[in-house]
Amino acid sequence: MLSNSTWIKSPVNKAEACYEFYTDFTLCKPVARATLAVTAMGMYRAFINDSRVTNELYTPYWTEYTKRLQYQIYDVTELIQSENALNFICAEGWAVGYVRAGAEHRNHYADHISLIYALEIIFTDGTKAYINSDENTKVRTSHIVSSSIYHGEFVDKTALVEELGYALNDDSVHTHIIVQQGEKVTEQDIIYPRELIETPSGEKVIDFGQNLSGYVEVKICGKRGDKVIISHAEILDKYGNFYTDNLRSARQQNTYVLSGDGMEIFKPSFTWQGFRYIRLDSYPYEDIDLSSFRAIAVHSDIKRTGDFVCGHPKLNQLYHNIVWGQKSNFIDVPTDCPQRDERLGWTGDAQVFVRTAAINFDVERFFEKWLADLAAGQMPDGSVGWLVPDCNLQYRENVSSAWGDAATICPWEIYMAYGNKKILQNQFESMQKWVDYIRNTGDDEYLWQGGKQFGDWLAMDNEDGSYNGATPYDYISTAYYAYSTSLLIKSGNVLGYDMSEYVELYHNIVSAFQREFIKDDLPAAHTQTAYAIALYFNLCTDREKTAAELSKMIRDNGNKLTTGFVGTPYLLHALSDNGYADTAYDLLLQEQYPSWLYSVGRGATTMWEHWDGIKEDGSFWDKAMNSYNHYAYGAVYDWIFGVAAGIRPLDDGAGYKHCRIEPHPDKRIGFLKSSIETRRGHLSSYWYYTQTDIKFEFDIPADTIAEIILPDGRRECVLAGRYIYSTVDNTGGKTNEREQQN
Ligand code: BGC
Repeated sequence: MLSNSTWIKSPVNKAEACYEFYTDFTLCKPVARATLAVTAMGMYRAFINDSRVTNELYTPYWTEYTKRLQYQIYDVTELIQSENALNFICAEGWAVGYVRAGAEHRNHYADHISLIYALEIIFTDGTKAYINSDENTKVRTSHIVSSSIYHGEFVDKTALVEELGYALNDDSVHTHIIVQQGEKVTEQDIIYPRELIETPSGEKVIDFGQNLSGYVEVKICGKRGDKVIISHAEILDKYGNFYTDNLRSARQQNTYVLSGDGMEIFKPSFTWQGFRYIRLDSYPYEDIDLSSFRAIAVHSDIKRTGDFVCGHPKLNQLYHNIVWGQKSNFIDVPTDCPQRDERLGWTGDAQVFVRTAAINFDVERFFEKWLADLAAGQMPDGSVGWLVPDCNLQYRENVSSAWGDAATICPWEIYMAYGNKKILQNQFESMQKWVDYIRNTGDDEYLWQGGKQFGDWLAMDNEDGSYNGATPYDYISTAYYAYSTSLLIKSGNVLGYDMSEYVELYHNIVSAFQREFIKDDLPAAHTQTAYAIALYFNLCTDREKTAAELSKMIRDNGNKLTTGFVGTPYLLHALSDNGYADTAYDLLLQEQYPSWLYSVGRGATTMWEHWDGIKEDGSFWDKAMNSYNHYAYGAVYDWIFGVAAGIRPLDDGAGYKHCRIEPHPDKRIGFLKSSIETRRGHLSSYWYYTQTDIKFEFDIPADTIAEIILPDGRRECVLAGRYIYSTVDNTGGKTNEREQQN
């Protein structure tokens, strides 16, 4: 639809400014159907006769713009009249504005906003008319004076709207335009203020009680020129003052200047903030009426599929924090965090969390789009960078294991969650190129040495205090090389390809790993992460000895972990898969620092980036890297779902067609229930302790084969229905009841 339209730009181009492109037209015949197609380098909001054409936010979203740019199509028949005004307010967005820290990080994809649109009108008599973007579109400034994703928006209802003349033809856009592939981003939850706080330093702060991504809507009636200025923060410092140092250069501040024209409602259009608290830097009244404020959480419109509840209040809060970590960071792209000057598609974070993400929400389409960008941004040598989309070519040269491995891990996990081979078909070439890249890099075909590695990012076992943990880079890289190759082989098998070359490669990598990194049948690197990944990736020469030593290491460390981004997702699995579910539970239920429940005890409402985001003495970890809304460690829900509740799709049963239900009850929790709406229906596992027994209830959906394995050793293969079992607590094997309700 856009083939007869021209890219246009404003005749004036000022950093951070928003421009309105507009045109008027008259129709003399009745309209049967009107369709608008539009996209921008920048962000746009489309209006017809002052009505928004969609409730979507941040269109056309973020892709690897140099290769692919999505356009959107809207049925706008209902909005068309005989006299019409078609308007687009545009902001810089990701394409033009700041992305990454520092003033130099602007204009990654373009140095100005560009727009293209086509409105197709089909009249009732079958004839058609088109309104296309070209030099007849006019441009003016807007009441949204400026907008920046990181820094916030400035809306001035008193600002003079200045006519800038006609748009200019713009031949600077060279990319492939594709129809929208990803999910929409929309407003999702409303959160009302919990409390108004006057901080010790005299600031007026509103607490919304939940860390979130979104913005605050303000309803206000005031005088012309009155100002509302709102700053956003995730936490208060130990004295109770508003704390923004961890936002780094992101200002996260919205300013509204009132027109004085009765009741006005303000919220930003092209930005969001990561926050729990707001500070009123300017407000026209001494008295603050909390009912004038509400926070609106925004994220991709993904359907919630998972649910969890148990008898341990702190675990329930942890689950809540995991879900909110996902909501806050699934804004079109899986981002690391929503508040500081990053909000980027870090590949490592995405691969760590993808399995949990696909339990909590239906993320198939979300990842389909993101993985297509990963493939689009992959270099000819097969390397996958740190970020997708990558906003800066300089970062394309940076390749790290566990980050680039998102290329194989994410497609495989999405396939396992939904059972749709399409994702493997789409990504297979990219997966293969990634494995081939590792094979060709460095001197040894079977080891991965070198690269710009992050290591076990943010682990706490590095004595020099660096961010990268103590597990050697080459150890981690080669282990991931083996894991990625194994996933490539599995994917190729699903697609019916001959994978013998890679099977041989895999065996050679495993032998090289064992030769290089295993000494006396134990990982040479004596870290929890080294042991966890050797076990989870199946690289040990003596599994029993390795697992026993891992469990001992944790016991010797007072049941505390030391792992970072690489080891943490696998640690509990590595233990419970090898007979140490008790050690895994002790880690899960650990409340002292460092642990998952430590942040819960400190009042967290989302996942922290760091185990010690707030230290025991109330001070903070390094402000340069201290987000309170980073989903990565939330990957632990995959263990709660997969081991505590025991639900796991088997390799030959992607999409839960064939799954295992092997719960691991623990008396300290009392009861636990996890469920998921699979593509086949409701699947759940529930256990609870009575005075004498442990009871189990499982719901199996249609067209699913489930292997139920109870702690007393009983195994049973069942089809759709509800199954109820009871075992005597602590008797180790006596089963006294089994019921089936179909
Ligand atoms: C991000 C991480 C990311 C990392 C790379 C950070 O700044 O927030 O989550 O994976 O850089 O190590």
